[in-house]
Amino acid sequence: MISTDIQLAAQFLNNEGIVGIPTETVYGLAANAFSERAILKIFDIKQRPTTNPLILHIKNYEELKNVGTDIPEMAHQLAKTFWPGPLTLLVKKQKQISNLVTADQNTVAVRVPNHPLTLELLHSIAFPLVAPSANPFTRISPTKAIHVDDYFDTKIDMVLDGGSCSAGVESTIVGFDQNQVIVYRLGAISIEEIEKITGNVTLLQSGHKKTTTPGMFKKHYAPTTKIILTSNVQHELNLWKDMKIGVLVFQQALQNVPLTQQKILSPEGDLKIATANLYNSLHELDSLNLDLIIAERFPDEGLGRTLNDRLTRATQK
Ligand code: TXA
Ligand code: MG
Repeated sequence: MISTDIQLAAQFLNNEGIVGIPTETVYGLAANAFSERAILKIFDIKQRPTTNPLILHIKNYEELKNVGTDIPEMAHQLAKTFWPGPLTLLVKKQKQISNLVTADQNTVAVRVPNHPLTLELLHSIAFPLVAPSANPFTRISPTKAIHVDDYFDTKIDMVLDGGSCSAGVESTIVGFDQNQVIVYRLGAISIEEIEKITGNVTLLQSGHKKTTTPGMFKKHYAPTTKIILTSNVQHELNLWKDMKIGVLVFQQALQNVPLTQQKILSPEGDLKIATANLYNSLHELDSLNLDLIIAERFPDEGLGRTLNDRLTRATQK
């Protein structure tokens, strides 16, 4: 069921139910972070291994001290700069945070989402929400209420409809090791923006043994259609002539592909707009029964790195 009724969403959550919630990044699958029963439902519905920890969504910066402890000064700086917004901080967890949330690690991932409906929802309940992205394990993340409803239908209590997600990719995850600032997952805030506050950061590459993070699973965000990522779309098109092909390009449409099978992410060449359109375009291409999707590689800077990261993962089968 899709609805805009915040009180109804609160009621379900108060009763250990599961609600799809809008955020500025992607839709989340939310549950009461203090109910182990509700948390277990999320792992079950998403078919997600319990070794992959969840992000806590809190209502404001002041709540951070109630869920985390020994918080580095740099974390405070980042939170004050980017919250509410698409930044997730890894901090040492308070005892009251269940090991189910953190997959037995002593850190907890926390953020304040920047969406008016979800902020109002968080203010109307007495607990934080755990919310992984509302897609089945390894599938494309949802950026519209209908995506969530299509994925989970009656397995969840409702989807709170907050329209299309404005940022369109997941939050950037940042952690701390002594004086080092570590980016665990590229996301809606570019490394360059983070570095304006912190100075140089270390980017953990996927597969790094230090992390169980997520986005760190190699295969992720994948459409069911096979996808390849290339700097030369035309060249790939020539190689796969006999197939029904969809293309995903940054600015410029191609001459020899039907327009219905093309997604142009930002004709004006704006990486923020391209990012906002990425998952929805993948969802649409994936529904066309194509043999292959050819995606164009982005410039490797700013949000272009986030886009390349997600597209690279989408190519893993
Ligand atoms: O934008 C977002 O972050 C969205 C919206 C709904 O807030 N949520 C999201 O959640 O992307 P999820 O579960 O799909 O991805 C969060 C990732 C997980 O894959 C997990 O591995 C990582 O964050 N994570 C959570 N807690 C962690 C921890 N304590 N240490 C390392 N990684 C952690
Ligand atoms: Mg996810």
